Amino acid sequence: MVAPAVRVAPSAATRALNLLRTVQFTHPPSCPCHSNPSHHHHHQQQQQTLSLAHHVRRHLATPVDPSREKEYAFEMAASSIRFGPGATKEVGMDFKNLGAKRVCVVTDANVAKLDAMKQAVEGLSREGIEFTVFDKVRVEPKDSSIKEAIAFAKPYNPDAFLAVGGGSVIDTAKLMNLYTVFPDADFLDFVNAPLGKGLPVTKPLKPLVAVPTTAGTGSETTGTAIFDLVAKKAKTGVAHRNLKPTLGICDPINTRTMPSAVHASSGLDVLCHSLESWTAIPFNERVPRPTNPINRPAYQGANPISDIFSLNALRSTVKYLPRAVKDPEDFEAQSQMLLAATLAGVGFGNAGVHLCHGMSYPISGQNPGYKHAGYAVDHPIIPHGVSVAVTAPAVFRFTAPSNPDRHLAAAEAFGVDISNVKRESAGEVLSEAIAEFLIKLGDQPRGLKALGFKSSDIDSLVEGTIPQKRVLMLAPNLSEEISAEKEELRKLFEQSMEY
Ligand SMILES: NC(=O)c1ccc[n+]([C@@H]2O[C@H](COP(=O)([O-])OP(=O)(O)OC[C@H]3O[C@@H](n4cnc5c(N)ncnc54)[C@H](O)[C@@H]3O)[C@@H](O)[C@H]2O)c1
Ligand SMILES: *[C@@H]1O[C@H](CO)[C@@H](O)[C@H](O)[C@H]1NC(C)=O
Ligand SMILES: [Fe+2]
Repeated sequence: MVAPAVRVAPSAATRALNLLRTVQFTHPPSCPCHSNPSHHHHHQQQQQTLSLAHHVRRHLATPVDPSREKEYAFEMAASSIRFGPGATKEVGMDFKNLGAKRVCVVTDANVAKLDAMKQAVEGLSREGIEFTVFDKVRVEPKDSSIKEAIAFAKPYNPDAFLAVGGGSVIDTAKLMNLYTVFPDADFLDFVNAPLGKGLPVTKPLKPLVAVPTTAGTGSETTGTAIFDLVAKKAKTGVAHRNLKPTLGICDPINTRTMPSAVHASSGLDVLCHSLESWTAIPFNERVPRPTNPINRPAYQGANPISDIFSLNALRSTVKYLPRAVKDPEDFEAQSQMLLAATLAGVGFGNAGVHLCHGMSYPISGQNPGYKHAGYAVDHPIIPHGVSVAVTAPAVFRFTAPSNPDRHLAAAEAFGVDISNVKRESAGEVLSEAIAEFLIKLGDQPRGLKALGFKSSDIDSLVEGTIPQKRVLMLAPNLSEEISAEKEELRKLFEQSMEY
């Protein structure tokens, strides 16, 4: 029932009619009027005419409830990126070029001792730029550690920030920047709703240059900052384009010193960023469409530009992560992983992530006491990358019916020959490919059980996932109705107990 193609130049009226026919018959779900099934099956010409009249009224006259309108546009935002071995030493000149006079350097106690910090600090000194160093970032920050960092930055009143470290450092620096520009704001004002107020950031922030030392979060390109909100037993954060670093300096020399365990878990974060953004609901299925572009979320759903970054990052990660983890001398693999992390950052920074990330926030927030081997920290830790990967085999089995072709393309990226795979098997095949990849990578807990979770913990993991609206709204095949949604999440956690 497709409207006939128009071959002669149609009059305005015919054009309108054809447009309406197209709307009505080829894409019923994109028309909000059609959520009422009685508007669908018109068999008689008369009814069709009535229906067209109805459309003219609905589309041209009566305003449609904006809270039910689907999105029609997407917007790309990413930091400037400079990539190259040795580029860290340029950072002093960058601040000089920006006109910065007083820089707050942010790092953690491990990274403070590395060559990356030495290069950055020497660069600032060479240019005669005044700076101070905050090196107390907590690995996997929590609200209290973020507040401590903000309390350090406020009285120093820097005119720019430099973050040298992994996602923990870069995210902390973003929030130091935010709350020094809004010194009177309440801490929860900008935190994602419903845990916080989710207010938009209405002013530009100060320049932030980010020098990542892990190949993971892509935080150097995104407006996202994540921390553990202890009182709510779940991770959450602030997500707004204004938090994006001004510049990300990706210097593959800086990631060489990562312990193998950090290579692995930060790389698994890249894997999930690319898989989740590639399979997120399409941007034009997201509801509601914002009435003002300032309210268009950064996490918009899969879109044609993000797709390019996400799929490319997925292919690179499958190829280079195992090499980077196994061989500390494999500089090519390490460079390619740093690039993949940034590519995935651009992909998910605009398309968003969904279930692995949404479910990971209570997993790391409710850690029963697990401490991942190879992490030089003095507290229990389920590294972010481990917490997202642990549910991946279950998650992509669940989401595959939403778009079997994309899930098959992902399986193909893992090296599966998909030429004879049925579309109905896409989920099973991708799930197996992911599990096999994780097992071969080595030293990965094979499920929530290995992290110390019991079946009796699932209820509270589900409760901790529900508030992650910002990412759950991008999860394909997840019910909107709350009791059905909880049941689906419960099953996903159950299936993730062991893989
Ligand atoms: N902003 C975002 O968009 C985003 C995305 C994903 C994750 N995150 C967050 O980022 C955090 C995780 O960041 P991460 O995975 O980059 O790791 P990280 O910053 O937590 O660092 C992990 C460990 O590696 C050490 N380390 C870092 N670089 C090193 C190097 N080159 N050599 C030796 N040791 C090094 C650190 O000191 C730390 O002990 C989590 O809190 C996570 O929630 C943020
Ligand atoms: C998953 O979503 C797709 C498209 O949104 C739909 O066609 C399919 O029926 C859903 N499958 C399940 C099992 O919910
Ligand atoms: Fe992540």
